[in-house]
Order: sequence, then structure tokens, then C-alpha cells
Amino acid sequence: MKKILISAVSQNNIIGRNNKIPWNNKEELKYFKETTLNHAVLMGRKTYDSIGKPLPKRINLIISRDIKTNDKLNNLFYFESINEALKYAENLEVEKTFIIGGSEIYSQSICKVDELLISRMPFEIAGDKYFPDIKSEIWKLRDVQEFNSFKVESYFRRIVKD
Ligand SMILES: NC(=O)c1ccc[n+]([C@@H]2O[C@H](COP(=O)([O-])OP(=O)(O)OC[C@H]3O[C@@H](n4cnc5c(N)ncnc54)[C@H](OP(=O)(O)O)[C@@H]3O)[C@@H](O)[C@H]2O)c1
Repeated sequence: MKKILISAVSQNNIIGRNNKIPWNNKEELKYFKETTLNHAVLMGRKTYDSIGKPLPKRINLIISRDIKTNDKLNNLFYFESINEALKYAENLEVEKTFIIGGSEIYSQSICKVDELLISRMPFEIAGDKYFPDIKSEIWKLRDVQEFNSFKVESYFRRIVKD
């Protein structure tokens, strides 16, 4: 199973403000949906609260220190750690697990993933949550996909994980 981190990031590296994404870009949301559909999505509890419901047609893996009851009908599962969730995902019949945020989860998982998909939003914006550093000694930019209102950079690892 491939582990892919996916995020939308402003020019000044902002991803969130007041537990929301501080822009509304339908084209980027469509790209996110099409990319993640029928796979697993792993997210922090605050991001889950912000979305407000399980993402349909995806297996939702929520990381929290305060475990709640799983809701199998809606493909919603809670885990106490990212590693536990990734281990669970290995046994699912999905090809990919997407790490979908937020800031805390990106920082803790960037060392664990195979690929980064970064939607670059073409503006600076005020916010309180940032994307972690993409270290050039670890990540190599492979491809840039242009959309009307943003572009997506794909990064692959230069060096194999520990
Ligand atoms: N632009 C984008 O692409 C994008 C994508 C996603 C989210 N966002 C934004 O990012 C912001 C949310 O990010 P955030 O950093 O505040 O929160 P987050 O990463 O979504 O969630 C943080 C929560 O995850 C749990 N957690 C984190 N590390 C853990 C660990 N090691 N073990 C167990 N549980 C752990 C804790 O939940 P408990 O408190 O329940 O224990 C913690 O409070 C929002 O503004 C959201 O809109 C942006």
C-alpha cells in the first residue's frame, strides 16, 4: 500500500485558520475528491471535526488520544497513533492511504510517506496552521500538474525511509 501525503498550501505556507481551510476553491476540492476516492484517508481529530462528517466512499482513519466508538457503517475508525492507523490500512483492500492533515499530523507523518502531493495556491493568506518544511535533501520534485486556479507538485523520496 502506497502512503501519500496530500495538502493544499498557500504561498506563505498556510494550510488553516480557526480550524478551517482559509479559502474556498471548488476546483481544488474536486481534484482532492477525485484523487482520494475509493482509498483510505488518515487525518487528525481536529481536521475531522472541521470536515464534520466521514468523507464518503473513502475509509476514514482518525487519529486521537480520546478514542471514540468506530462507525463501521460510515467507514469511520479511530486510532491512538499514526502507526497504528497505517498498520490497519495495510490490511485493507485499498491501493493507497492519503494523509490529509492537519498540521500536527503532516509534521508527524511526512517522515513516513512515499510521496507528497502539494496543491500550491497562488496567494498569500493569514492563518494559524502551517505545512512543515519539504527538505530538498529528502524530497525531489518530479512533476507539476497545472490547473486553472492552482498547480499540483508531486514529490518523491530521494532516499529510502528508515
Ligand atoms: N490546507 C489543507 O490541505 C488542510 C488539510 C487538512 C487540514 N487543514 C487545516 O489544518 C487545521 C487542523 O490542523 P491541526 O494541526 O490543528 O490539527 P490536526 O492535525 O487535524 O489534529 C490534531 C489532533 O490529532 C490528534 N493527534 C495528533 N497527534 C497525535 C498523536 N501523536 N497521537 C494521538 N493523537 C494525535 C489529537 O487529537 P485529540 O485532541 O482528539 O487527542 C490532536 O488534537 C485546520 O485549520 C484545518 O482546516 C488544512
